Amino acid sequence: MKNRLLVCLGLVGLLVMGSSCSPKSTTEPIYLDENAPIEERVEDALSRLTLEEKVALCHAQSKFSIKGVPRLGIPEVWMSDGPHGVRAEIEWDSWSYAGWGNDSCTAFPALTCLAATWNPEMSALFGKAIGEEARFRKKDVLLGPGVNIYRTPLNGRNFEYMGEDPKLASAMVAPYIEAAQQSGIATCVKHYALNNQETRRMRVNVHLSERALREIYLPAFKAAVDAGAWSFMGSYNRYNGQHGCHNEVLINQILKGEWGFDGVFISDWGGAHDTYEAAEYGLDIEMGTGSDGLTYSTKNHYDNYHLALPYLDALKRGEVKMENLDDKARRVLRLIFRTLMSKDRPWGSFATEEHAAVAREVAREGIVLLKNDGILPLKASEVKRIAVIGENATRSMCKAGGSSELKPWREVSPLEAVVEAYGAEQVSYAMGYGSGPSSYGRVNPSPYDAEELKREALQVAGGADVVLFVGGLNKSHQQDCEDGDRKTYALPFGQEELIRELAAVNPNLVVVLISGNAVETQWSHLPRAIVQGWYGGSEAGHALVDVLSGAVNPSGKLPFSFYARLEDCGAHAFDVSCYPGVDDECYYKEDILVGYRWLQAKGIAPAYPFGYGLSYTTFALGEPTVKRTRYATDDKVVVAVEVTNTGEVDGKEVVQLYASKPESCVERAPRELKAFQKVKVKAGETARVELAFDVQELAYWDETSDTWQIESGEYDLYVGNSSEAASKLTITVR
Ligand code: BGC
Repeated sequence: MKNRLLVCLGLVGLLVMGSSCSPKSTTEPIYLDENAPIEERVEDALSRLTLEEKVALCHAQSKFSIKGVPRLGIPEVWMSDGPHGVRAEIEWDSWSYAGWGNDSCTAFPALTCLAATWNPEMSALFGKAIGEEARFRKKDVLLGPGVNIYRTPLNGRNFEYMGEDPKLASAMVAPYIEAAQQSGIATCVKHYALNNQETRRMRVNVHLSERALREIYLPAFKAAVDAGAWSFMGSYNRYNGQHGCHNEVLINQILKGEWGFDGVFISDWGGAHDTYEAAEYGLDIEMGTGSDGLTYSTKNHYDNYHLALPYLDALKRGEVKMENLDDKARRVLRLIFRTLMSKDRPWGSFATEEHAAVAREVAREGIVLLKNDGILPLKASEVKRIAVIGENATRSMCKAGGSSELKPWREVSPLEAVVEAYGAEQVSYAMGYGSGPSSYGRVNPSPYDAEELKREALQVAGGADVVLFVGGLNKSHQQDCEDGDRKTYALPFGQEELIRELAAVNPNLVVVLISGNAVETQWSHLPRAIVQGWYGGSEAGHALVDVLSGAVNPSGKLPFSFYARLEDCGAHAFDVSCYPGVDDECYYKEDILVGYRWLQAKGIAPAYPFGYGLSYTTFALGEPTVKRTRYATDDKVVVAVEVTNTGEVDGKEVVQLYASKPESCVERAPRELKAFQKVKVKAGETARVELAFDVQELAYWDETSDTWQIESGEYDLYVGNSSEAASKLTITVR
């Protein structure tokens, strides 16, 4: 350690001697002392920077890096997508892949799947593994996780987020961040804020009540700050007329002001639009901005960025505040000392069997059993001929979807895993439908004859004991993909008709939905079982077959509502000004009633409710009891309940606690998730679960005082295993 420090000091000494523009170079270089407190290192380094060097910290030097300060030995900062794995290397100055041979990563499941585990321990495992991969690949900032709230099932990026409920998303995002940053890399929480649709994402201006903002759309971001996230990414959309990447209210007032975020605020790629706004309204690093046609010239077009030469000029002319530049540089240096120049930074590891095991564990724990009349599990000893039908049984789901696409070192498809588990002689396959090849921003027609594909599938299905239909969405444009929303809620590519015809030729039909979004399921009475399989990453097929075969008892729960019809969703219950907006103005008229809150307030039955998921065993919940524990500043509601596994196999159940205020001075959702716990219970055994939440979480955002207020009086508490939880308790808060 000492030797390394001496070498560094020597190097810097030389560099400093050779420089004539350093404003201060005589004091001890504290910034190089890895044992010194970070804030001292930051201030010391900051005091040595020239104006130009500070500005250089505020914008890209390539597609995914910023320059650092070479003169002082402060290294470049490298970023990578995120959030499901470390993306393949991209060229210095174009979106083309660099063609490296050593960048095939472990693909972890999509974040909706992680959220569906309802198990923060899975988030920690995921975060640790992806942090190690990022570190090994010499990335300093991992662009993820994302926590935009699921407002409509049409949003093309829902698969990258953690569902419709702020409490669930908050509980799941925190361990990911804490564990990933242990590897000495910064997570970058995105897309702050209100990036709830991809349609017109660069322009749409979101209008919503302050209450909906505070109670629904911001809590998971706040949880990320509390978990210690070292960076945030701005959103493309506008709020209050200003873009998310330089927004006075969202960034300066709330994130950096109220919440005390001391990390770096990075623009989404191409999300910065104006030098003055970027300088004054909270943006620290500008990435991905278009380059005024200079991309292919010899001139360095990164100099044209809003926070590059135009910023330098504005600073020199006194048009923008110097103290804001110092604040930006300070934050970037802090990030560098927290990551790149931190003490004992581990080396990380990449594409290992351990990481594949994590991917498999998360994927199978997130899988949700939506329906089962007993056909599942499919025991290998009992099943002879399995017909696997559907394009998603073989299609790679890692290689598309936009910026979260991955080049995995392994991606086990459902078909491969079925063959592995049940034997090649037992399995036959037909594609059944074709979606067409994927291409960025385009919908390509399928090159196949749909009738021919269906005919073949019906023939294969007719001769089997069990039909496994693997369909759903995919990662093509206007499916689950960045930069476009879905066009329909129904299953695409003729799948619904195919399901109907498959059920007619073979009633032993199991439907597996691969998607990051809910789909219309008006056909749900036809199959004997329905499984929500998500995008499972490298081990997708294995995880699915673990559940289908009964090797693993399913325990995932929906992180969002499955609406029976699209118009049952609050965002679609009004006119188009509510979604996708008119003239780029979008009004969130459903207000705080997002997801199950809307369904319950309006008495609409979902196809499958938020928090729902079956198991191969059954659970019975005992009578819950409630108490309030108050010690000094710690004021909690604690509900205890016994969970008995009344079936024949071991399993895990998620006990959920919802609260409501029946008589309130403001509109309240009939139920809001306040606590949950996943518990493993052996067949025939009973476990005791305690669900606790802070009384503060009963507060509503009061728009007249701009503060959180707790109303006194009676609150109803509901305990159960979905948002339709049955047991009711009452607690009085004074
Ligand atoms: C996406 C971000 C991503 C960035 C860099 C943007 O298009 O919105 O989520 O991190 O590209 O690839």
